[in-house]
Amino acid sequence: MTIGIHDISAATGSLVFALADLAEHEGIDVGKYHRGIGQTEMSLTAEDEDIVTMAARAAAPIIERHGTEGLRTVIFATESGIDQSKAASVFLHRLLGLPRAVRVVEVKEACYSATAAIQFALGIVARRADERVLVIASDVARYELNSSGEATQGAGAVAMLISENPAVLEIEPVSGVWTDDVWDFWRPNDRSTALVDGRYSVQVYLESLEGAWNDYRAHGGADFSSFARVCYHQPFTRMAVKGQQRLARIADPDGESTDIDRLADTVEYNSRIGNSYTASIYLAFLSLLDNGPDLSAERIGFFSYGSGAVGEFFGGVLVPGYKSQLRTEELQNMLAARRPIGYDEYRHRHIAYDRVGDFETADETHGDVRFAGVEQHKRLYEAR
Ligand code: COA
Repeated sequence: MTIGIHDISAATGSLVFALADLAEHEGIDVGKYHRGIGQTEMSLTAEDEDIVTMAARAAAPIIERHGTEGLRTVIFATESGIDQSKAASVFLHRLLGLPRAVRVVEVKEACYSATAAIQFALGIVARRADERVLVIASDVARYELNSSGEATQGAGAVAMLISENPAVLEIEPVSGVWTDDVWDFWRPNDRSTALVDGRYSVQVYLESLEGAWNDYRAHGGADFSSFARVCYHQPFTRMAVKGQQRLARIADPDGESTDIDRLADTVEYNSRIGNSYTASIYLAFLSLLDNGPDLSAERIGFFSYGSGAVGEFFGGVLVPGYKSQLRTEELQNMLAARRPIGYDEYRHRHIAYDRVGDFETADETHGDVRFAGVEQHKRLYEAR
């Protein structure tokens, strides 16, 4: 029995802010952003967008293509949740028109939780091969203005259908896992922006990669040389380079190269979208699928990291013919259609983001669903 990703689709915010603009206003060389952290733009959400509308936009094409037969579980991974109690997937369930006989839940552990969601989904399908699970990763990454993390903000969602006999990626059973209780990045309940010890988080990320890789190998995981590509969690895309260098050093010390060039196809989307937290590693994967060569039957590695901190390394094999399943043009059109905003508007939107009490949002987007506002503490979503 093979289980894995049967379909994958992504969405991002409707606005875009260029890091060249940020650098100019900070009076620094844009090379720090373009080359130093590997980011050129960040996606931002409009007033009537959030993690739920992005998730709906990502998942709708999957439901349209595959219907809801056998779909009995939806797992929503996020670290920018919109309610402390009600799962974001409950809103999504209605917006996607899913049947009542579906369990929905939200999971959290910083940027890692979508990988946990996939592992849970694999377990469900292993018990009942006729069931399929919709896994969604959706996040809006926000840091304080003038903080070290500001340039790495972003917004995005990836939806994946997990099933038996997948058409895109067969996920292999071995995983390497790692956890440590540290304070590298966190967001207390009274804050809408994350707190981060940036340099320390880079260090913990790499320790976690090493720990998860060693555990993966100790459990019978494949040799480093058998991976055609590795997709890394990308809080900023240069982090993937640091990860690949560290992994090559410990996993392939006699290898001639760290194969940095082979990362290129995995960073295309994240360098333009910015950090999308839980969605970031799966956007890296989608970027490889859309922009890379046909790697049918090749093994792909995944390193998933969530601050706090949890890491996991696992592998999968691309199913021959997977290219025919992709929606490359749709995502590229979505990226191109984002409305560019300047520095003043960016700052104004950042400050105005936290709204409390009842409010209506401006009608800024043209998607099938929109976040209409809050009434009596209830978030309102409208399907167009
Ligand atoms: N041209 C090219 N590169 C430049 C440059 C220029 N003009 N100016 C600086 N750089 C390079 C630096 O040498 C550095 O490279 P290195 O990491 O290989 O040493 C890189 O750009 C970043 O510069 P740095 O001074 O370290 O940036 P910073 O301290 O302002 O912030 C982070 C970097 C990652 C700490 C910051 O973006 C952050 O806090 N991000 C949020 C947390 C995060 O993403 N954590 C990752 C793990 S989850």
